[in-house]
Order: sequence, then structure tokens, then C-alpha cells
Amino acid sequence: MARILVTGGTGYIGSHTVVCLMEQGYDVTIVDNLSNSNREVLDGITSITGHRPDFVEADCQDRTAMEQVFTTYPDIQAVIHFAASKAVGESVEKPLLYYRNNVLSLLTVLETMQRHGVNNIVFSSSCTVYGQPDEAHLPVDETAPRQQALSPYGNTKQINEDILTDAAHADKALRVILLRYFNPIGAHPSAKIGELPNGVPNNLLPFVTQTAAGLRPMLRVFGDDYNTPDGSCIRDYIYVMDLAKAHVKAVDRLLAATASEQVEVFNLGTGRGLSVLEIVRTFIEVTGQNVPYEIVGRREGDIEQVWANPAKANRVLGWKADTPVADVLLSAWNWEKHIRGI
Ligand code: UFG
Repeated sequence: MARILVTGGTGYIGSHTVVCLMEQGYDVTIVDNLSNSNREVLDGITSITGHRPDFVEADCQDRTAMEQVFTTYPDIQAVIHFAASKAVGESVEKPLLYYRNNVLSLLTVLETMQRHGVNNIVFSSSCTVYGQPDEAHLPVDETAPRQQALSPYGNTKQINEDILTDAAHADKALRVILLRYFNPIGAHPSAKIGELPNGVPNNLLPFVTQTAAGLRPMLRVFGDDYNTPDGSCIRDYIYVMDLAKAHVKAVDRLLAATASEQVEVFNLGTGRGLSVLEIVRTFIEVTGQNVPYEIVGRREGDIEQVWANPAKANRVLGWKADTPVADVLLSAWNWEKHIRGI
């Protein structure tokens, strides 16, 4: 079976994807600098799959280290490039760090792939490239225009999409799949891997689970005066295991060489928008936990509402995100209980 290089493979989406790849019989090499994850994730993956993925602790910007990886594993047939910094707020404070990490990592990976004749890459992009789509583009499909990024983080996603597109234009052998994620949530059903936010979480779900666990006194809901049915923002929350499975489909497609275009783009979402308040109330209902919350002012830079039209991914990849949100929220809570020893 083919070997897949997964950069950022001990991270949140990366680790779940590694599990799915291994369960489909792929050999996996992970490269991660552990800047926002830890080695124990490898134990979780091993315990779930019964096999330990090969792991190289290295930064994707390190040309020598990346050269070494491709030399050690000449059977690598595709790369899934997750490795990146991902905190929107931090990227506003430290833009150079974000441009360096996210852009140089991709460049180094691509140059090394080229030297070793590896022609297939799946890239972690984000629905952030669409900004706030106008009404005609909701739910948003892949033909919706990209809009000026609201943060350096978002800009690195656009720049990296452009780098990949230009590289494919110049090198007709290169095959690229850009996956634009909506809002990934939840954890593996075993609760052996999940999301491990550093410090105070920025994202909604980890904040909800930490509040339910008593680590945070109160969830703040950022705004109830948006132009939405209950006034809170709407997102397309997708189960991380469903998202992970889409990566396996993308890799299968690259290796089967069935893509009709050199660069393909897929929106990965459920097709259903849920409000912040719907998420919080459903979480309380399915877990029976108390989550104290208060409505506060809007968070700067928040998009009012965005959710996916995933029809293209459904049709072309033969994939669908269909895990019920109740199960997804329970998986997030089970993971929080696991890491807190509750
Ligand atoms: N929210 C709260 N309280 C919190 C945290 C979040 O009310 O404590 C709200 C936000 O205001 C927003 C919704 O929950 O309305 C979702 O917020 P997240 O931070 O979880 O997710 P975002 O949609 O803002 O951001 C996500 C990713 C980013 C990415 C962006 C667009 O985290 O990396 O989607 O793709 F850039």
C-alpha cells in the first residue's frame, strides 16, 4: 500500500486523518514540530489502530530535515499538508510569524516533493477564503468568489492556494486538491484523540466543553444582534471524523489519477448552518451538563453567517458528512472528560 506523508499529523485534524488513513491500509509518516501538539497523540493513534505511525519530529521549513524524510521514505506517494499555525487572533499580533510558518512550510514541502518526484498533494484550506458570502452565495459553493482575507492567518490560506495553483500550472505532473474546511468539532469516538487547545480556547466548542468541565466560569456568546433567526452567528459545524474521511477520499482520488483538473477544490461541510445558541443548547441537552453563558458584544472580525454547499464533494469524492450533531457534541464532551479525568 502507498505511503502518505502527513505534515501536522499530531494536530487536531491531522491525528484523526492519520487514524482514517491507517484504517484504510495506508502507511503513514507524520512530520510535526510539536509546536501545538504532543507525542502522546501517537499513543492515542496506536491504541486506536493497533499500529504506530512513523513519526519524525521536524519543522516543515527545515529543508535538510524534509530532504531526509523523503530520502528515508522513498515510497511516499502523496502529501497531506496540515502543518500550520491557526489562531486568527495571534496571527493579527504576529503576522510575520504566520507568514513565515505557513508559507515557508508549504514552499519547502513542495520543493522537496519536486526533487523526489512526488506529485500529489492535499492542502488544508479554509472557508475563511470566502469571507462573508453575499446572500446569492449562501450556502457557499466552490464557485463563490474569494474575498480579501480578514487576518494574516486567512491570507496565508489564500496565498498557499495560489502557490499551489501556480506550481501546478508550471508543472503539469503536479496534482493538487484544496480542501476548504468549515468548522471542525468533536473527537474520535474512543476519546483517545481530540482537540488540545493551548491556554484559553478561541473556538466555540473547546470553550463550551471546558465551561461544562468547570475550567471556565462562563461561556461568552459573542453577539445576539446579528441578522440571523436567533441573532447569534451561524456556522457549518462538521464532525472531525467526517472531515478526516474526506482526506482519505482525496488521497484515493489523487492516487487513482481520476481527477479531471490539475487543481481541484472542495468545500467540506455538512450543508447545514447552526447558530452559536443552537450549539450551546443542544450541547446542554445531550450531555445533561450545565453550561453557564452570557450574551456579550460582538467579536471583532466575526463573519455573520456561512455554511457550505458540499454537493461537489458529495458527488465527486463520494463522501458525505452525516454524523448527527448530538453524537458529535457528545464525542467532544467525552474527550473533555477523558483529558480532565472526570
Ligand atoms: N464564539 C462565541 N464564544 C466563544 C467562541 C466563539 O460566541 O467563546 C462564537 C463566535 O463568535 C462564532 C462562532 O462561535 O460566531 C464560531 O467561532 P469559532 O472561533 O469556533 O470559529 P470561527 O468560525 O470564528 O473560526 C473558524 C476557525 C478559523 C477560521 C474560520 C473561518 O477557527 O481558523 O473558522 O474559516 F479562520
